[in-house]
Amino acid sequence: MRRAVIQGIGSSLPKNAVSNHDLTRIVETSDEWIVERTGIKQRYLAAEGETTGSLAVAAARAALQDAGMEAQSIDLIVLGTSTPDNTFPATATFVQAELGMVRGAAFDVQAVCSGFVYALSIADSMVRTGSANRALVIGSETFSRILDWSDRTTCVLFGDGAGAVVLEAVEEAEGIEGRGVIATKLHSDGRYKDKLYVDGGPSTTKTVGVLRMEGKEVFKHAVVNISAVMTETLDSMGLTAADIDWIVPHQANKRILDSTAKRFGIPEDKVVITVDRHGNTSAASIPLALDVAVKDGRIKRGDLVLVEAMGGGFTWGAALIRW
Ligand code: UT7
Repeated sequence: MRRAVIQGIGSSLPKNAVSNHDLTRIVETSDEWIVERTGIKQRYLAAEGETTGSLAVAAARAALQDAGMEAQSIDLIVLGTSTPDNTFPATATFVQAELGMVRGAAFDVQAVCSGFVYALSIADSMVRTGSANRALVIGSETFSRILDWSDRTTCVLFGDGAGAVVLEAVEEAEGIEGRGVIATKLHSDGRYKDKLYVDGGPSTTKTVGVLRMEGKEVFKHAVVNISAVMTETLDSMGLTAADIDWIVPHQANKRILDSTAKRFGIPEDKVVITVDRHGNTSAASIPLALDVAVKDGRIKRGDLVLVEAMGGGFTWGAALIRW
């Protein structure tokens, strides 16, 4: 059957690494508090001139090089972001132009921290059904630009970055044996839209706004929703947690990752964790973490990988991939 197989991966981080200690100069916080409550030790923050678009282009170029493909052979770009360069056009069209692509379609998907899972699911559908043959799926964010830098409860949590994968249509075995995206599950529940949101926008305040979050509420829902969607995804293929080689979660908080793994009965060494060095990079966190685990040799061709995320909306979702 026609499957969307991941043929390349790449990522890009801003030049500036900012430690917890650095943040103590901006807000009343401490390295101990941030490490104990979140597991974050540092994050990368975009400098002037570095944008969601420029980070996305760098990640896309790295993924294309990894795949050994020319940008001109790509016919779809789906970019997950909540921090676009401009309200419109889509940052994906900026990436398209920078890569020198003049065909196909390029658009953004806005599902906050679930943005990469949403983008992957849409691109997978389009590749499997023949609307596209080769797709770039990108998660790219500059959350530093929508943070309230006087609010210590949020500003210490987030970082900037981008990650990208190249999907290609390949004839593969059916079921769980063939390579590629095997199953995706997406959810949202807008009743919780006020738990994690940005307090501005073009149609309301005519400003960009800053991020507001009820952290404890989000934490509670994250553990429940992520566990549920992981179970739903595995059940749909008749699998259990024991069948999975790697879990690559959205990186929001080490305590969420630990609670979810425990609930799921997954040993810690099967969970890819990058929140310590990247912070929460929203839609970029999964492809950034995937890239780390592929490059350091943990994720190998043929491995069964489960990615999952939950974010503002609420939105949440998971994807099962044979690497
Ligand atoms: O990616 C999208 C999804 N996002 C998430 O999943 C985030 C989910 N939420 C969380 O990760 C956690 O709820 C936080 C890390 C945001 C907060 O951790 P918490 O254990 O829930 O802390 P809290 O909000 O209950 O705050 C505990 C205390 C408070 O002081 P009091 O009221 O007990 O005196 C806060 O004022 O910690 C204080 N505090 C801080 N202290 C030092 C809050 N932020 C800081 C800080 N430094 N940066």
